[in-house]
Amino acid sequence: MTAQSGSIESVLVENRVFPPSEATMEGARIKGMEAYQALCDEAEKDYEGFWARLARENVVWTKPFTKVLDESNAPFYKWFEDGELNASANCLDKHMGTPVENKTAIIFEADDGKVTKVTYKEMLERVSQFANALKAEGVKKGDRVIIYMPMTIEGIVAMQACARIGATHSVVFGGFSAKAVHERIVDAGAVCVITSNYQMRGGKELPLKSIVDEALAEGGTECVKSVLVFERTPTACNMVEGRDKTFSQALEGQSTVCDPVPVGAEHPLFVLYTSGSTGKPKGVQHSTGGYILWANTTMQWTFDLRPEDIFWCTADIGWVTGHTYITYGPLAAGATQVVFEGVPTYPDASRFWKMIQDHKVTIFYTAPTAIRSLIKAADSNEAVHPKNFDLSSLRILGSVGEPINPEAWMWYYKNIGGERCPIVDTFWQTETGAHMMTPLPGATPLVPGSCTLALPGITAAIVDETGNELPNGSGGILVIKRPWPSMIRTIWGDPERFKKSYFPEELQGAYLAGDGAVRSEDRGYFRITGRIDDVLNVSGHRMGTMEIESCLVAKSDLVAEAAVVGRPDDLTGEAICAFVVLKQGRPSPEEAPKIAKALRDWVAHEIGPIAKPKDIRFGDNLPKTRSGKIMRRLLRSLAKGESITQDTSTLENPAILDQLGDAY
Ligand code: WT7
Repeated sequence: MTAQSGSIESVLVENRVFPPSEATMEGARIKGMEAYQALCDEAEKDYEGFWARLARENVVWTKPFTKVLDESNAPFYKWFEDGELNASANCLDKHMGTPVENKTAIIFEADDGKVTKVTYKEMLERVSQFANALKAEGVKKGDRVIIYMPMTIEGIVAMQACARIGATHSVVFGGFSAKAVHERIVDAGAVCVITSNYQMRGGKELPLKSIVDEALAEGGTECVKSVLVFERTPTACNMVEGRDKTFSQALEGQSTVCDPVPVGAEHPLFVLYTSGSTGKPKGVQHSTGGYILWANTTMQWTFDLRPEDIFWCTADIGWVTGHTYITYGPLAAGATQVVFEGVPTYPDASRFWKMIQDHKVTIFYTAPTAIRSLIKAADSNEAVHPKNFDLSSLRILGSVGEPINPEAWMWYYKNIGGERCPIVDTFWQTETGAHMMTPLPGATPLVPGSCTLALPGITAAIVDETGNELPNGSGGILVIKRPWPSMIRTIWGDPERFKKSYFPEELQGAYLAGDGAVRSEDRGYFRITGRIDDVLNVSGHRMGTMEIESCLVAKSDLVAEAAVVGRPDDLTGEAICAFVVLKQGRPSPEEAPKIAKALRDWVAHEIGPIAKPKDIRFGDNLPKTRSGKIMRRLLRSLAKGESITQDTSTLENPAILDQLGDAY
């Protein structure tokens, strides 16, 4: 693949186009744009027939479905409702007796570099044994289980084991605080918590179990009957008699055979909490049938998966990417995948490149933030530059989680992909379950910074505020016009919030993604321009501004008022900027850094280190209109360090702007 024409004029106009090479097209599942178009046409002609065909081909049903889509109680859509299946059986049991049975399922590389491999057959035994241990703890179909685990084979086994017995898992990212764990336990009404004594990150041993203990010490957690603790390191941790068991204790004597429990297609496979535009995180509820269908299908389409591929998704199981493209998709598709416990910069910033070389990775899927930080590291230290490593095994590259800037795209394309590997820039969300828009390696001409076109069956469009579709060449609100099988079913325990957040009346029944996008004039390619709500994307992690504001204000001995906005950041995409009014008034320049640190530590303790504001600015007040509304637009300009050119005549207290100039 070489650039066909043009050069970059600005970030807004991108003229470079990279059509798939013959080598990439050779043997591709979806070969050429005609093949892509044929699938789109099939979906358009007979939407339900298209999805029914895929659901029959890509999902193993214990009871076949007779109904495809039920729209009678929109937007609470149901897919394949009378069908029955088990998600774990779709990832493991179905491969038994096939060539996949003895294939390596997981190549696990620990933080310290130690490698462990597990075959599909061994995975089935481990998952079954763990499922039996859960049953012995009294966990049953329909119960919720919180998983707060490091990136380990055991974390994946725990998720699969829940699925096997029909328990709904809710994974909490290992970087979240005790308060976050507490909130999720209470909201989900969990009966069991699966955790680890410690986790290893960058050579450091960090506690997990003690955070669970802190969470369980708070009220509302009586629902939790047992805690299972993986002994990741030999270091002892506190164990509560009668409630806590180590994995070895729980697994002892348990059989490695456990029949998968069939569940209805709509049975909640998992609830995953994510930030929204109001304070409280939303429990995004996913189905079993539709979710497994799209997880498996997108593995095959987006990554053009082949039996000999070595797939590596660098995400954490605490995020949706880890759910769909580590725990479920690769296993459902029978892939061999690399699972990595550590961080990209330990022992140095060449870790990813060395691992691609060592494990002969063919498909590499990571986030723009990681790419940008590794570019920076390679620029300043020759030794960690990817050119020192043999990356010739690579065949496809992927990007996910945030817009990838064309500069980072080109670096990834040249230095990692050797100008040979297509980059699939996959747009999707926790709520969408799996990919929505992405190039297809053997079909779609690539444009740096664009997620190109919707997958066949996905009805993405750009509309104005009243839901009217806009033509190519325009920018607007990104919507999905029709329901799709892997979509969010509801917000756990809050169906009203589900309706209000994703199906506002103005949009005439379309799903509101929460992102803005533009479509190119010529190809109709989508480029995501960022969130249109009060959600920030920091290093590919979603953070609600209101969530951080409530957290700051909760430090009531110090803080009177706070407002949080985002600003662009070269490394993290967006950075969190907090404007704070202290009870004591504006701090002196000597005091300010200390108070800023105290506030950051507080946010890290209350939410997690990823929510720490990068900039904190102090004022005697916040810029408000005469009616008392905080002028966020103005705050965003201040955060960017722009000079204020906006009309400030409606501002009640214009003098405040001068105070807010210094960031700590
Ligand atoms: C938000 C969803 C997708 C799984 C990981 C994040 C942004 C995601 C892209 C992309 C531009 C992207 C959007 C979206 N986003 N992928 N390829 N290009 N933006 O899942 O935490 O639910 O966040 O991430 O803003 O709404 P999430």
